Amino acid sequence: MILVTGATGTIGSHLVRELVRQDELVRAGIHVRPLEFDGVETCSIDFDQPETLPPALEGVDTLFLLSRDVFHEKPMVDAAIEAGVERVVYISSFNAETDTFIVGQLHREVEQYIQDSDMIWTILRPNYLMQNFVTIMGEEIRNEDAFYDSIGDARVSQIDARDVSQVAARVITESGHENQAYELSGPEALSHHQAAEALSEALGRRIQYLELDDETYRRRLLSQGVPEEFAGYLVDVNRRNRKGETDDDKITDSVRNILGREPTTFSQFCLDYAPQLGG
Ligand SMILES: NC(=O)c1ccc[n+]([C@@H]2O[C@H](COP(=O)([O-])OP(=O)(O)OC[C@H]3O[C@@H](n4cnc5c(N)ncnc54)[C@H](OP(=O)(O)O)[C@@H]3O)[C@@H](O)[C@H]2O)c1
Repeated sequence: MILVTGATGTIGSHLVRELVRQDELVRAGIHVRPLEFDGVETCSIDFDQPETLPPALEGVDTLFLLSRDVFHEKPMVDAAIEAGVERVVYISSFNAETDTFIVGQLHREVEQYIQDSDMIWTILRPNYLMQNFVTIMGEEIRNEDAFYDSIGDARVSQIDARDVSQVAARVITESGHENQAYELSGPEALSHHQAAEALSEALGRRIQYLELDDETYRRRLLSQGVPEEFAGYLVDVNRRNRKGETDDDKITDSVRNILGREPTTFSQFCLDYAPQLGG
């Protein structure tokens, strides 16, 4: 039995569909939102309520671990060990091994915690998800034909979450990925200006990338409810991207090696998601 945590999220929802398509025995961990499709065993799981973890893990041999809050992850690993789970596939973040950004460092700590356990592990480190243009920036793209950021002209090799999910399904269902970590990028590194051009072409109207200075971007994040400390980190990572101090433009061959095909381009992503962006 495979337990998928974050089963209703951007990566997890595609993974559950893919595992069901492959007739795998899968249990979807549901927090608040319901699954958008039927025919899957579900269980309630709330990382903030430890008593929900053992029932969710009953009979599970493979845990797909993803959370919105990295502080939830070590307790989930402990619960998995306690339940006798044999293998964990963990969603970390791009360059976690070398990242000086706090999110990367926290993911790296969890990676090491998993690696120090007796469980078999596979670590997936995706770059910035293309779907952020829908989940985070979708509303402004739909309503204002624009999106805002302070990343300047820096280029990022962003990846389609659907590719991340397919890679996850593959490493879960085939052998050869035991105790491996994979850096997952898209096929090209694009600036936000280039992303705006691709969006404009797919949506048939002009979409603008409006560059903000650090302080304006910070205030915008705060007004959107992002906690102060995290807003500071996001501003900082953008500043370091602008200065070329990150490796977020690195292009890796992991998707091609694992899936035997090229990763999805940003242009294709824009066409596929056009209806959700008012196209
Ligand atoms: N976004 C990026 O660009 C990016 C890039 C690299 C790595 N990552 C990593 O990817 C992960 C996020 O993946 P995602 O974008 O697929 O997530 P997501 O779309 O935000 O979905 C989060 C999932 O976790 C569930 N969840 C939230 N709080 C929970 C709780 N207390 N207990 C149990 N489940 C809970 C949510 O369910 P409800 O909706 O019902 O609450 C949802 O199913 C993070 O670890 C992030 O660091 C993200």
